[in-house]
Amino acid sequence: MISKATIDQVYETARLEEVIGDFVQLKKSGANYKGLSPFTDERSPSFMVSPVKQIWKDFSSGKGGNVVAFLMEHEHFTYPEAIKYLAKKYTIEIEETEQTSEQKVQADERESMYLVSEFAQKYFSNILWESELGKAIGLSYFKERGFTDETIKKFALGYCLDHWDAFTNEALDKGYQLKYLESTGLSIVKENLENPANSKKFDRFKGRVMFPIQSMSGRVLGFGGRILTNDKKAAKYLNSPESDIYHKSKVLYGIFHAKQAIAKEDNCYLVEGYTDVIQFHQRGIENVVASSGTALTAEQIRLVNRLTKNITVLFDGDAAGLRASLRGIDLILEQGMNVKVCSFPEGEDPDSFAKNNSLDEVNAYLKTNAKDFIQFKASLLMKEAANDPIKRADTVRDIVNSISKIPDRIQKEIYIQECAQIMNISEGVLFNTLAQIGKKDIADASKKAKDNQKAFEVVRNEAVTQKVDVQFELERKIIEILLLYGNTSQRFEDLILKENDKGELALEPEFLEAKVYEKIFLDLQDDEIELSNDNFKRIYKTLVQELNENENFTVQTFIASLEQDMVSEISSILMEEEKYILHDWASKDIYPKSKDQGISQLASETILTLRCFLIKRRINTLQNETQDVEKDNREILEEIINYIQLNKLLNQKLNRVLS
Ligand code: CTP
Ligand code: MN
Repeated sequence: MISKATIDQVYETARLEEVIGDFVQLKKSGANYKGLSPFTDERSPSFMVSPVKQIWKDFSSGKGGNVVAFLMEHEHFTYPEAIKYLAKKYTIEIEETEQTSEQKVQADERESMYLVSEFAQKYFSNILWESELGKAIGLSYFKERGFTDETIKKFALGYCLDHWDAFTNEALDKGYQLKYLESTGLSIVKENLENPANSKKFDRFKGRVMFPIQSMSGRVLGFGGRILTNDKKAAKYLNSPESDIYHKSKVLYGIFHAKQAIAKEDNCYLVEGYTDVIQFHQRGIENVVASSGTALTAEQIRLVNRLTKNITVLFDGDAAGLRASLRGIDLILEQGMNVKVCSFPEGEDPDSFAKNNSLDEVNAYLKTNAKDFIQFKASLLMKEAANDPIKRADTVRDIVNSISKIPDRIQKEIYIQECAQIMNISEGVLFNTLAQIGKKDIADASKKAKDNQKAFEVVRNEAVTQKVDVQFELERKIIEILLLYGNTSQRFEDLILKENDKGELALEPEFLEAKVYEKIFLDLQDDEIELSNDNFKRIYKTLVQELNENENFTVQTFIASLEQDMVSEISSILMEEEKYILHDWASKDIYPKSKDQGISQLASETILTLRCFLIKRRINTLQNETQDVEKDNREILEEIINYIQLNKLLNQKLNRVLS
């Protein structure tokens, strides 16, 4: 268990905008930062970070919270993982309180898989650097490929001995459970059902040099292992199988070491292999990641899209497979990114090219040879189809299909014009083809939509009939006021019914100095008002209690002490203003005008508006009850009159507050 003191220190030190900045490209926007939601595929930013409030809100997914909530959502960390990550980032020493054996057992499964992977990485590196066989075989292999000691260490490369079970046995000896060795794929278990004790265990990566695959935050998720022999039957690279911590389609090799450079250079080089990434790094080009030889996925592109809008895909010199790879690029266009492509001379890949050329040479090559994707594809296909009219027609379709994926209309048009030139074809033909493809897309979509007709209808109706829920908005406002100003002392004006000189009852102003939360609490208690929304009710209770007990209440420490679901709700409330700014929405009429009017006024107005609203509703219900002529309604009528009077009084107060 991490000590309370460490957790407090982490919260005090961590700057939310810095932490999030490692994952999302943030731009200053007023007092806040804005960026693309890391949780959805959006193209205009609706992700907000408030450095003052130290909370974030993603308006497209509804998620939000403090720094820890971000890491838990984004990196899928557990709470302690998030704290540890922050402690490491800010070099805070972690003070651990002793774990009970029960807690040890409870340490969650994924965490165990991470731990065993981290152990494996250390073990393989250790073998590489320390053991005779490791040095003679693994290390010398990497050296031969031209990797320096520094590079080998940076990428935490390693070697798995050519024994059947050297690693597995070592891990078991060190207390790691076979269960996790198996679920991470590091070990393969051949079960002997009759005699489980005789089940055989093997190292999956036996005799291979090891490339650990890290998450964006640097955790080891899995491995790629390269064979060193020329065995034609065995795969050259063997990768960790899919598991709870390793999802091939969601990782990019090298992203951990590249993310800063990608954001800084505002461009990302995409290569195929582990060694391409490493060699580029060593040459001094760090904004590079690899898809690890498989077709690119939308999720992988999203990882990059958070850091930059520009991607340059680097191809090996062998023309084979180039056409197939071009297909995958449409996925990048779909996410609104600018794509360039660059191929290397015959027989070279990024690895060999970076190895054999200086940094200046590599940069110069990339600069002159990186072509806009659409132009590149158009010229390549035209060359292929030069003398074949049928193929040419296909080619036109193919190109226009790619162009149709680009979300930006103007960009689409520019490409059509350019391609018309390259392909020596009229713009009209291309625009027609684009329109046809567009219609086909619409037809496909409407077919899909029909299947979901019902759901769709419901959503639409909701959108149309959605009215502003006054009570909800006011209750929410109350929470917001409590969070922001609950602890401040204010001078409140109240109107008290008093007997004047002439013996008449009249409203007289009276002043009262109080903390905002006390005033709100007492006013609501006056009418025995309970918040109707369960979430608000829960937050209200905790909040008032905390404000009451803690003189030094701050939103930050309060949020830090809460369960995550409450944190998320609170962040939405605190970020509400930002949402209005973001969408440039006119504020709803029911909102008190502005905060500049003074906190006491804001608080009084909100409470009074809520009280009036509830009283009017009560009057309505009572009036409905009097419809029954059979009943003796005197009591109800009396009650109605009382409420009408109270409503009048509150309205008078409200008018005074507003004037
Ligand atoms: N790859 C894989 N499994 C294979 C072959 C390749 O996972 N059987 C992946 C690896 O991530 C590899 C990438 O595809 O890095 C590119 O493959 P390839 O070009 O064959 O390998 P290189 O990176 O050039 O490897 P090397 O230079 O070590 O031969
Ligand atoms: Mn290679």
